[in-house]
Amino acid sequence: MARIVYLNGRFVNKKDAKISVFDHGLLYGDGVFEGIRSYGRLTFRLKEHINRLYRSASEIGLKVSLSKNRMIQAVLATLKKNKLDDAYIRLVITRGPGDLGLDPRKCIAGGSVFIIVDKVELYPDKYYSKGLHIVTAKTRKNFIGAIDPRIKSLNYLNNILAKIDGIKKGAPEAIMVTHEGYVSECTGDNIFIMHKRCLYTPPRHMALEGITRDIVIAIARKKKIAFREKKIIIKDIYRADECFLTGTAAEIVPVNRVDRRKIGNGKPGRMTKLFLEEFRKLTKIGGIKY
Ligand SMILES: Cc1ncc(COP(=O)(O)O)c(C=O)c1O
Repeated sequence: MARIVYLNGRFVNKKDAKISVFDHGLLYGDGVFEGIRSYGRLTFRLKEHINRLYRSASEIGLKVSLSKNRMIQAVLATLKKNKLDDAYIRLVITRGPGDLGLDPRKCIAGGSVFIIVDKVELYPDKYYSKGLHIVTAKTRKNFIGAIDPRIKSLNYLNNILAKIDGIKKGAPEAIMVTHEGYVSECTGDNIFIMHKRCLYTPPRHMALEGITRDIVIAIARKKKIAFREKKIIIKDIYRADECFLTGTAAEIVPVNRVDRRKIGNGKPGRMTKLFLEEFRKLTKIGGIKY
């Protein structure tokens, strides 16, 4: 359980980890965040997450008071204090307290930075051994010209509405489709399919540039598996031989059915298992020790 939280340069007990009700992160979802993991006291792809965090901040014109290096040190210190071997790290930067108007220039105190470290909420084992049933969300993906999906902002309402669509249909994840009918990603995961020995995922600009997504692409290159970024529609997923989702929390999770239709033979595919195996090897090497 999270006990010690990093909050604006101080370490505080969970019960004292509070920010202002005037914080625009709370009032308007004006801020950015990251979800990061550690395995056996090694952080996993921490620098990549920090780079994405600062990219997201820059996209919304949010100045971060800490250098990237100091942010990394803050994450490591929070991990040390919480003494968790395997952890989920939530790093949040808000616009900070302002008045009740939207104007970010009114947030003169600067952004709030907080880091919560907790146990990892894992998907049940059966999702990995049998696969996951997912559905197409009724809610459409935000138009890129409104909110660029590459910005990992605190404004997740679009994804939450899609998640509710999934829950109503009894599915733990839901696919979000653009207003033009192309598959973008799931509410908290990127999506891949295997079709005729080629791996496909929607183009980079259409979804969050997932850290796990990038790792899967790198594994495909290393293993000489054909790969293409391509606009796909839901019917392409129905016809795929394999489908899987990727995300920091989920890692690589096989999909057995989409909208109740069986994918491939309805069991986790051979290539999906290979990607998961290779991914798990990577979690044991190269991270920063704490
Ligand atoms: C909308 C969305 N897509 C994809 C992902 C997967 O990204 P990553 O692999 O960096 O965790 C996430 C998780 O952060 C997400 O929230």
